[in-house]
This record gives sequence, C-alpha cells and structure tokens, in this order.
Amino acid sequence: MCGIFAYLNYQVPRTRKEIFETLVKGLQRLEYRGYDSAGVAVDGSAKNNEKDANNNICLIKQKGKVKNLDEELYKKGTLDLDEELQTHSGIAHTRWATHGEPSPVNSHPHRSDKNNEFVVIHNGIITNYKELKKYLNSKGYEFESETDTEVIPKLIKYVYDNREKEHVSFSTLVERVIQQLEGAFALVFKSIHFPGEAVATRRGSPLLIGVRSQFELTSQHIPIKYSGNKSDGVQEKNSRNRAESVGEQQDLMDMKAVEYYFASDASAIIEHTNKVIYLEDDDIAAVINGKLSLHRVNRKTGEESVRAIQTLQMELQQIMKGNFDAFMQKEIFEQPESVVNTMRGRICFEASKVILGGLKDHLKEIKRCRRLIMIGCGTSFHAAVATRQILEELTELPVMVELASDFLDRYTPVFRDDVCFFISQSGETADTLMALRYCKDRGALTVGITNTVGSSISRETTCGVHINAGPEIGVASTKAYTSQFVALIMFGLMMSEDRISMQKRREEIITGLRDLPDMIKKVLELDPKIKCSAEELYQQKSLLVMGRGFNYATCLEGALKIKEITYMHSEGILAGELKHGPLALIDKHMPVIMVIMRDGCYTKCQNALQQVTARQGKPIIICSQDDQETIKSAYTTIELPHTVDCLQGILSVIPLQLMSFHLAVLRGFDVDCPRNLAKSVTVE
Ligand code: UD1
Ligand code: BG6
Repeated sequence: MCGIFAYLNYQVPRTRKEIFETLVKGLQRLEYRGYDSAGVAVDGSAKNNEKDANNNICLIKQKGKVKNLDEELYKKGTLDLDEELQTHSGIAHTRWATHGEPSPVNSHPHRSDKNNEFVVIHNGIITNYKELKKYLNSKGYEFESETDTEVIPKLIKYVYDNREKEHVSFSTLVERVIQQLEGAFALVFKSIHFPGEAVATRRGSPLLIGVRSQFELTSQHIPIKYSGNKSDGVQEKNSRNRAESVGEQQDLMDMKAVEYYFASDASAIIEHTNKVIYLEDDDIAAVINGKLSLHRVNRKTGEESVRAIQTLQMELQQIMKGNFDAFMQKEIFEQPESVVNTMRGRICFEASKVILGGLKDHLKEIKRCRRLIMIGCGTSFHAAVATRQILEELTELPVMVELASDFLDRYTPVFRDDVCFFISQSGETADTLMALRYCKDRGALTVGITNTVGSSISRETTCGVHINAGPEIGVASTKAYTSQFVALIMFGLMMSEDRISMQKRREEIITGLRDLPDMIKKVLELDPKIKCSAEELYQQKSLLVMGRGFNYATCLEGALKIKEITYMHSEGILAGELKHGPLALIDKHMPVIMVIMRDGCYTKCQNALQQVTARQGKPIIICSQDDQETIKSAYTTIELPHTVDCLQGILSVIPLQLMSFHLAVLRGFDVDCPRNLAKSVTVE
C-alpha cells in the first residue's frame, strides 16, 4: 500500500545529509508498496532558525517517485546538510493515493498546524475520518489536504492543547489518539514538543522496529507496560526481573549509543540490522532518551506480556536487483530456486513422502472436514484456481475457490466443519484478512499460505505453510505464484498419503516436482523467442489468452500480468466458453495466445484451435515440445517440456510472465511500478 520508514539516532552523530540518505534509501526499498508521492520530516537546521534550532520541523514532500523527493531535498537551500546531529528522529513515507490525488499537500508526513508541532506518517485507512474532521473543524482546526490521515496530527494537537497542564508523555498522547481512531493504521509520530523522541503504533497494518547498537543486546524480550487494568497482575510478575527496555539494558552496561529503524516492511531494515521487534495491534512503542519501551491499554487474558526481539533471516542480496533490469525480471528468473525453497525439507523424494511442518498437527482435523474453501485476491486467487482440480482429485473433498471481496459481499455461509485457506503473498491484503476473520468467527479451521513470516495472515490463521519464495518486490507477482502453486499441491499430496488407490498418481506428481526446477530452467531458455513475439505484439491494443482445464489459471494469470504492467487490454478466456461469446472477437486482426498441453483437455483445445483458425485467427500457441499436430496449425509456437498434467500450469505461466515483461519494456513502462497499483493492498 504505502511505505513507512523512520530513523532515530540517539547519541550517534549523523549529519543531516546522512540522515536524508538513510531515509531516502529506506523509502526506495519500500517504493514497490506505493510510489505516487513521498515525503520526509526532519528537524530544521540552525542555519534556518538560529535561536531555536531544535524547535522546528522541516517538511519536504514531492509528487512522483522517491527520486523526485531525493532531488528536492538537496534543492532546499535553507537546510544545513553538514550539520551534525547527536540525537535526531526523522520520519519518511512513500504513498499510494486512496483519499485525494497524488500531490505534495496530500503526501505524508501530515501535520497538526502551520508550525508543524506534530507530524505523522500513516499506512492504512481511517474509516471514521469524516466524523473526526467535523469535530475538529468545529474546534477551529483547519485542514489542508483531502486525506483521511490528516485527522491524526490534528487530533494529537487537540489532545495536547487540552491536556490541562498535566505533564503528558508523547506515548500517552498517542494512546489517547488511537482510542478515537477506527480503521487500519501503522503510524509513526514526531513532535517539536518531544525532540529526539519517536512514537509508533499499529492496528491492522504491519510495523516493525529494527534496533542497532554496537553492543550485544542482553535480552531477547521487551516487556509491555499496561496503562489500563492490571487485573491479572501477570505482567508485573513477568517483567519484574527483566530490564525495562532495550535502552535501559544498555544503560545498565553503560552503553548509550543506539539507532532505531521503524518500517512497514523488513526489506527497508535489513541493511541496517537484523534485530527486530514486530509490533502487535494496539502496541505503542516509544523511544525516549534512547530507550525503547512498549505499552498498551489493558491486558487481555492469555496475552503475551513481552515482545520478542527476533532475528531476521532475510539477506540483503535477496532484495537487490543484481544484474537484472527490473525486480520482476529477477524474480521470474529466480523460479528454479524459489520452487526448491518451497519444497526444501518438506518432500522426501525417495520415500514419496510430504510433510508440511505447519500442518501436520492439524491434518486429522483437516481430513474430517466437509469442504475446502480457498480464498485470495489477484494472483493468489489464481493459485487457488490452478490447484483446485488436483486438490479435488487428491482429497476427494469439494473445493470452492473464492475472491475474498466477493466472498465477503455474499456473506457466504461458512461452518465449523469447513477448512478455509487464505492465500496471500504479503499476508496483509485487507480483503483476504477480513475474510479470514469472518471465517474464524464462524468456527472454521483456518490455514494460511503466505510468503511473509510474521504477517497478519500468518499470525491469525490456526496453522499454515510459509511458501519460502523469498522477498518479492516486483508489484506483479511471479515467483510467489509458482510457489503458492507448489505449496498447495504438496498439501494435496500430504492429504492423500494413506490412499492406496492414489499411490501411482502421487508418485508421478512427486517425480514431477523433483524435476520441476530443471524444467523451469528450460522454459526460461525460451526468453529470446518470447521477446521476438513481444516485438510483434507490443503495439496491439488487446490480447486474448485461451485455455482450459489445468491451464485455465495460466490464462487468467497471464492476462492479469499483461493488464497490470503493459496497460493493454487482456482477457483470460476459458476455451470451453469460446463459442458462447468470445468467438465473436476473433478475426485476422485479434491477437490470441492459446495454451494447449497434452492432457485430458487436449482434444477439446484442438477444437477451439480449429474454431480460431477457421476465422483467420493467427494464434501464438504455448504447447508441448513434441506436439506436431498443434505446431502445424500455429502461427508461432512456444514449445514447453512436458510434465505431469497438474504441474504443467507452473511451466505454462512462465512464458506469459516473460511476455508481459517484454511488452511492458517495449511499450516504455516501468515494470516494477505499474500505475495505480501497489504490492500490498491493505485497504478494502
Ligand atoms: C519451520 C520453520 C523453519 C524451519 C522448519 C524446520 C519458521 C517460520 N519456520 O518451518 O524455519 O526450518 O520449521 O523444522 O519458523 N503458519 C500459520 N499460518 C501461515 C503460515 C504458517 O499459522 O500462514 C504457522 C504454521 O502452522 C507453523 C508455523 O507458522 O506453526 C511455521 O510455519 P512453516 O514455516 O510453514 O513451518 P515449517 O515448514 O515447519
Ligand atoms: C494486489 C497486487 O492487488 O494484491 C497483486 O497488486 C496481488 O499483484 C494481490 O496478487 C494479492 O496480494 P497478496 O499479497 O494477498 O497475494
């Protein structure tokens, strides 16, 4: 959706230029989450305001990509870039517009007033912003943007202005503010009243804090303080013997210097530190005098009284583009390895055994269920479509596939004996998350298929499978799709292990999975040929993609990729539906791609091909290497190695991923940042 990044250096001298560089780099790592405008807030410099150097905040915001903001920072002549700041807190944001068009005034950070007393960055959506705005307007607070976010800095100033002379800490102000907010948010605040401090909180949108100190952290936990009821007294018992905060541990050891990184995504933090704390909903994290403390209102029964300091497993190299022109291209070419990572440690090829560690304790219960429901959005939904048939075959259960938004719109009946799968690369997609909560409320067993450890879907599902595809940065999902596909097939194999009648089929699929990485490599070798086809097609307005059976999902997914990054009209068509409408579109001018593989639908696909060629259509056909019959009727072919029918979709989607990439490049578009789209959509 949008990207949050903040950096606080305590007793670590940094020039303003270094601080800008850190903030901008953090934003660049997050740019794939939103890129229509960006902004930063830092302390104003002495040069700017001699008397009150620490008491002014400078806001710089720019429309467009982060590089525009970067250029703007150095144009701001009033700021002393070489000034060294011992302690400083800076916040930064890259936006994907929901309320109000992309413009500097609608960009974050948003401010409380013309003096920038409080500034905030926000991911998510405030659903009661209209009511809050009306109230604040009535109290004389003036708004300048069209955003929902702006109510937050206005509200904190209102609370501050009405504090009745009591000393109120920054985190208490934030606590009072979030009690009034409805919707989803991750927030980081900065204020002229609390220089060198930062307060961060979340509800429904991810936020994590990286800690860097030259000294080893002595504890693996941070205790949570509660400001509301202390009815069970557990938190005092648990936290008594622990140091109160990260900074305090350092004080105990006479350590002072520490740096904190706040981000909506681990990929912005990993180059600085691998020690992170994931905030939970309603946690309020505050850094005062270099000490990080966590606080919440009220303790719920059974709730953890500490947050663990975790070690990120991600490698910096995983989020770098390397020799590729775009992240999407890099991720397409990573698929021989990413599918191996999905299978690693989970399949024993010799014994034809599959064990998904995250599901094994729940398998008995899953086997007793009445039906499987697979829910997702976009590409993740297509992974469900792609594996539905084989899951029906292997589990002998009815399998429903659902788009999360439609599933919720229909108030679909869900029962205690249903097993619901939530498929999501990011694990944060709002529609999928809402559907998960809906199914949980109805007592169904919930299973996550996610790529992001620590994401909301991963945490809120009863159990699940991390697909381990590695970070996916390109907005158009590629390697996550093939890994979701593999993970769902492994689930089917695990479910059918004790079915004697299915052993032959299982062995055939397991052998297919073993050979998959080599086959993917062979498909990737077709890249130059696919590029040639793209050169013929890139000026077209429309592109139809047709297929059926195991390869129907490839058509939907291929058409989605083409739409997303080339802005050409593209439609995935079920070949069985051809004569019920789409055939009217076919003539010698309409570009068509057909997927015809040697499987149960081969003859029917041949019929569709005849119908297309009879109307002078000139299809590009994705087919099996040895299929002379098809090759002779085609205008051009993309010939793939042959694998088991239910795995063929993994191979057949790759030419379309590559095709969309080349079409986008030829049409002159930014492959990784398609207009109007974002990687992770955390609003409904
Ligand atoms: C786990 C470890 C992995 C280790 C392996 C060896 C993690 C994240 N994974 O992998 O590093 O190599 O054991 O024993 O620590 N889950 C959900 N919802 C989801 C996804 C997962 O609830 O959407 C749960 C699972 O049920 C499980 C846990 O998260 O309890 C970890 O899942 P996963 O990483 O898939 O498990 P393993 O493959 O066993
Ligand atoms: C967004 C992305 O719409 O969310 C798509 O632009 C993606 O590429 C969809 O498929 C679902 O995301 P996720 O993270 O839930 O798999």
